[in-house]
Amino acid sequence: MKFIIPIGLIAAATIILVIFFFPKSPETKIIPSVTRAPAKITAESYGSISPIRSVDGLDPAKVALGEQLYNDPILSDNNTVSCATCHILDLGGTNQLPMSVGINGGVQKINVPTVFNSSLNFKQFWDGRADTLEEQIDGPITNPLEMGSTWSEVISRLEANSEYVKLFADSYSEGVTQTTISHALAEFERSLTTPDSTFDQYLKGDKDALNADEIEGYKLFTSLGCVRCHQGTGMGGNMFQRMGAKNDYFANRDDLNTHDMGRFNVTADEFDKHRFKVPSLRNVALTAPYFHDGSAATLLDAVQVMAKYQLGRRLQDREQELLVGFLRSLTGEYKGKKLSLPNTKQTSAQQ
Ligand code: HEC
Ligand code: HEC
Repeated sequence: MKFIIPIGLIAAATIILVIFFFPKSPETKIIPSVTRAPAKITAESYGSISPIRSVDGLDPAKVALGEQLYNDPILSDNNTVSCATCHILDLGGTNQLPMSVGINGGVQKINVPTVFNSSLNFKQFWDGRADTLEEQIDGPITNPLEMGSTWSEVISRLEANSEYVKLFADSYSEGVTQTTISHALAEFERSLTTPDSTFDQYLKGDKDALNADEIEGYKLFTSLGCVRCHQGTGMGGNMFQRMGAKNDYFANRDDLNTHDMGRFNVTADEFDKHRFKVPSLRNVALTAPYFHDGSAATLLDAVQVMAKYQLGRRLQDREQELLVGFLRSLTGEYKGKKLSLPNTKQTSAQQ
């Protein structure tokens, strides 16, 4: 009896110590418990990806004004760069280059994300530094390597243009302001959702929309755990994750730049180093090259890198092919037409 109480106390103290002071394994931080792959996979049992619905309730006049602004280099300092210079809607909403090229050829070592479905993202930019689409607009307009302009310059130019003055007056009682310009552009971006991919048709109940290989690819996407990060309607865009959850992606890089720091640039928290907003995989077959650093030229490359660094495993060739095939089924429709690349661009994305 004499010994039982001290032993009990020691045991209790040890348990408390372990619970409170034992360092958490990286996985517990990296992978949130949002979705776990079900033990037995059936095509119906995933639940964590939902089809894209077309947005209702947008104001058509504001969308049209936003579209005009989006395509107009008037927003850049020397009238040469528009949003569409880098986010080309006919090229999957990107520039198809590893890096961003802006005003006067200014290069930023960061890949241009697509604008399609950006309204589904919980935050904007690779590091999530803008909370809304409206807030995001300030970035490109004033960035010296993108449009290199200022708001006062943009507003005075638009106010000197009678067509814009009328269009703004028709939609906004305040006329031309930073808020109304940003709102119109964001309203247009909210119209850039791409519903009705064959995968979404499948999710909505058309079991013949995907072929047997694509369904296999979908099962792998879930059972391997891709879906833990690429989930929700956007299949991404709703959380931050480390690039290199299982293996150090940046270990052998001697050319690290600020962009590689990811979310750390916003929070200055060590934990956020190399963490990025998980990108949406919608229309991913059209948006090569891949990753924040544009380092993966093809979907196959991207899948291999993901398997190695995010899952810590090597996939068989067949598994990779199935995953790539599944990712190709994520291409949706814009204005009632399936998105595609011009023939000259097909090859790189199709490999
Ligand atoms: C010079 C090329 C360039 C121009 C011009 C440009 N962007 Fe971007 N855009 C980028 C790059 C690069 C990023 C990613 C930057 C980052 O994450 O730090 C980005 C990010 C975005 C995002 C966030 C998407 C996401 O998934 O996080 C949106 C939305 C966007 N741009 C819309 C616009 C709009 C609207 C305009 C015009 C007002 C515009 N861009 C002009 C290069 C450009
Ligand atoms: C631990 C979270 C996580 C897991 C698991 C994961 N990914 Fe990713 N994925 C990311 C992040 C973060 C990025 C962006 C990395 C970067 O740009 O540096 C990304 C990027 C991608 C991209 C490039 C998208 C683009 O537009 O650049 C593809 C394709 C992709 N993942 C597919 C997959 C597939 C397929 C799997 C499963 C084999 C998978 N991912 C597993 C987090 C994850």
